[in-house]
Amino acid sequence: MCGIIGIASSKPVSINIINSLKKLEYRGYDSAGIATLKDQLINERKCSGRVDELEKILLKSPSDGNIGIGHVRWATHGIPNLINAHPHSSENVSVVHNGIIENSDELKKILEDKGSKFKSQTDTEVITLLITEALKNMEPLDAVFKTLKDLKGSFALGIIFKDFPDIIIGARRGSPLAVGYSSNENYLGSDSYALKSMTNKISYLDDGETCVLTKNSISFFDVKKNKINKKVHIVSDDENISDKGNYKNFMSKEIFEQPITAKKCVNEYIDSLKKDINILNFPIRPKELKKIVLVGCGTAYHSCLVAKYWFEELSSIEVEIDIASEFRYRKIKFDPKNLYIFVSQSGETADTAAALDICKKNKVKTCSVVNVIESTIARNSDWVLPIHAGPEIGVASTKAFLGQLIVLYILCLKISSVRGDINKSNYNKNIENLKKLPDAIKKTLTLETNIQLMAKEFLNARGSMFLGRGSSFPIALEGALKLKELSYLHAEGYPAGEMKHGPLALIEEGLPVIVIAPKDKYFEKTLSNMQEVIARGGKIFFITDNKKDSISENIRFGLRVPHLDNFLSSILLAVPLQMLAYHVALLKNCDIDKPRNLAKSVTVE
Ligand code: G6P
Repeated sequence: MCGIIGIASSKPVSINIINSLKKLEYRGYDSAGIATLKDQLINERKCSGRVDELEKILLKSPSDGNIGIGHVRWATHGIPNLINAHPHSSENVSVVHNGIIENSDELKKILEDKGSKFKSQTDTEVITLLITEALKNMEPLDAVFKTLKDLKGSFALGIIFKDFPDIIIGARRGSPLAVGYSSNENYLGSDSYALKSMTNKISYLDDGETCVLTKNSISFFDVKKNKINKKVHIVSDDENISDKGNYKNFMSKEIFEQPITAKKCVNEYIDSLKKDINILNFPIRPKELKKIVLVGCGTAYHSCLVAKYWFEELSSIEVEIDIASEFRYRKIKFDPKNLYIFVSQSGETADTAAALDICKKNKVKTCSVVNVIESTIARNSDWVLPIHAGPEIGVASTKAFLGQLIVLYILCLKISSVRGDINKSNYNKNIENLKKLPDAIKKTLTLETNIQLMAKEFLNARGSMFLGRGSSFPIALEGALKLKELSYLHAEGYPAGEMKHGPLALIEEGLPVIVIAPKDKYFEKTLSNMQEVIARGGKIFFITDNKKDSISENIRFGLRVPHLDNFLSSILLAVPLQMLAYHVALLKNCDIDKPRNLAKSVTVE
């Protein structure tokens, strides 16, 4: 993961580097650092904490210079501490790196045999020392190209040179890298979001490409060092992106933004006049589609799981789902009649992007459901369905999950209708219900006071279980994921019917068990599974969209979300689970927006 930034300017750059690093913290927050060049000296400032801490260090001990690079780290090689914080510099070169150098041990040994001394445990330092070696008898760009040939793995790099004080070199293999243009100032960054406050003119490096920035020019090179031209994109302005407003943190803001997310998304895809879904340009005609394959990681994978139930229920299409890190290594029989759909909030997740690349190599049609339309996954897929959620800053995904579900549901309705799997009247009814979703989410959010009380019951728990059947099973998985990532409490999501095959052994007096039971075809079955838990002492938290009287005495806590239909209930039931995880984490004083050990965008394998 990690975030990198570089600025070449005619004025001091450290303040702008810090501001950009704050935006890149979603990529990692184990440590932060900056290196600037002044009077032929590389000046580093680093800390083992967050960018705020680095900013304080810079206030006490400023680091001037009109050219510089910065980094936020998500540790891979070497523990998160000051020594391992980037940039990694020699006397002549300073490097920031996002990604992993897979042959770093081997390269380290070669360098040590030649007398190089390593200060850190990182894989990055081999890059610094290889370039330093190469610079003894070559120009910077040649030295970088020579080094790149030795590196295995995936990376994005930003490099400055003591003896060449006007240039920053950037290189991309695997991990994303963007450059930004301005007058008398040019930029390098892990994404356009980090550069947005400075410019909206962006080019994206493709794999194997390298760039050289000065304050007045940007040159691009392909893998063979031929000069190339790159398209300049004008990126959109997003409102309120880094403003928490009156909220304590981004996550609560994002949870409460969900009615707006739903409204925006529904308005984008539903043509109210024609009473139709305006999804066009299918890469394969829906009637000719043989199978849909849905792929994602984490929360995005859970939205694929929910969609599988919807497609199976509504359409005649076969559906397969997989976790991207598994998909990319499976021996898959690709079929040109299948549509391969990649779901990713960031559009930069390394495993999802690699899975997409494999599909492209096998010449099958790809679609991405993304939040960031300028992202690698969006740019590389044949067809893009944006979720229109706006920037999501909190590491634990909430409104993007909701957006993914809505888009996948809309796609499912459209495909089912074009294929004649659902009749016009059901199609219209489903669309009308979708339009009611934003208000239903608003009502669901009013459950917060009850959820705050419920959260207290988790404070002394040793673990918890989330149970559901049908499409409530992936919602249970997502509820458990939210609770563990935010509050560090062990949580397991399980299909309720599977409990008796093992997990029931975990039930003991007082263990919190969240039962997700909408009034669908599984309702009674789920109630029976719940009784099995009650009989063994489990403390039940029951979440339903059924009438109030279904919340019985044996239940410790009951919550009821509005009922629209059996499909949209999955979306509504996810919301109280987000709020539960949030409030448990708040009571435990956890860092809500930046849970330990995690990052928002996972650009390593
Ligand atoms: C990380 C984030 C999760 C997210 C997953 C997939 O693990 O912490 O919130 O669900 O990556 O990210 P993507 O951007 O591909 O949806």
